[in-house]
Amino acid sequence: MLIRRAPRFTSNDVTDETLYWNRREWIAAAAATLALLPGEGAAAAPAGPPLKAARNEGLSLKEPPTKFDAATTYNNFYEFGVNKDDPARLAHTLRPRPWAVQVDGLVHTPKTFDVDELIRLHPPEERVYALRCVEAWSMVIPWIGFPLGALLRRVEPTGQAKYVEFTTLLDPNQFPAQRRGFFGFSSLDWPYVEGLRLDEAMHPLTLVTVGMYGQVLPNQNGAPLRVVVPWKYGFKSAKSIVRIRLVAEEPKTAWNKAAAQEYGFYSNVNPEVSHPRWSQATERRIGEFRRRPTLMFNGYADQVAHLYAGMNLKALY
Ligand code: MTE
Repeated sequence: MLIRRAPRFTSNDVTDETLYWNRREWIAAAAATLALLPGEGAAAAPAGPPLKAARNEGLSLKEPPTKFDAATTYNNFYEFGVNKDDPARLAHTLRPRPWAVQVDGLVHTPKTFDVDELIRLHPPEERVYALRCVEAWSMVIPWIGFPLGALLRRVEPTGQAKYVEFTTLLDPNQFPAQRRGFFGFSSLDWPYVEGLRLDEAMHPLTLVTVGMYGQVLPNQNGAPLRVVVPWKYGFKSAKSIVRIRLVAEEPKTAWNKAAAQEYGFYSNVNPEVSHPRWSQATERRIGEFRRRPTLMFNGYADQVAHLYAGMNLKALY
């Protein structure tokens, strides 16, 4: 029998999503009939340790979740490279336990927490959110975590605290793209830094996320803990966080430093403000072909619009 090998596509940071999914479907179909060589197929989605969580019905989106396999193999995590499948292939080098998170800055009681201590202190709940990336696609992911506000109240912010800065781990042994001489795009200034205004951080929708789909967070999705801010573009949700710092000034964020004219501090999902290189008026849900109109604040306008009352969101994008 003539066995044809899967065609080799190369992808880059702007991988065309249709091509990507056609390729994955092709590989899945081929795998069913042909014996694939090791490493030739796409990375299998990992089945991680289970993580129990009560459903927060009030704050959950009532839409069917994206397939787990898609949510764990089509990722942005530039510490592992710029291709959407790099994180699933390479994130086994990340060691998410033991893991300490420092919560400090303008607070009365700074503290460093072990991640499992944090989970014990804050019983996780499940919330389903659409996470939209900058390339106008979206996924619906049942995130598991607890409100960031509960953690911030624990360390008692002082009156000077106006913003919250999140910092990802800096460790070239665990993140290949942080190595000097790493082959590929590496123009982000490591470590990855993101930030929120204090009132955004205290909003009950803002989640410290430790799991998804009933299990602990897979490495490629930001293990052992990341932030999820459902009404903002995906890049605001920093992964694998080691420090949460309360500060007086707007933090300098990684994407803003790399391309200020493209990525502002607020980064609210806003169909009326085009990215300089593409429209943000419509999006494609991963797993669907039709495009749908993008909703202001990702559909959470009723809950969050008041945070931006009186602000010019075209100037403060
Ligand atoms: N956090 C770190 N540390 N490094 C990154 O490259 N990418 C961001 C965000 N958080 C990123 C990160 C971007 S661009 C997106 S869209 C989301 O993570 C993707 O999260 P997901 O892979 O779980 O969907």
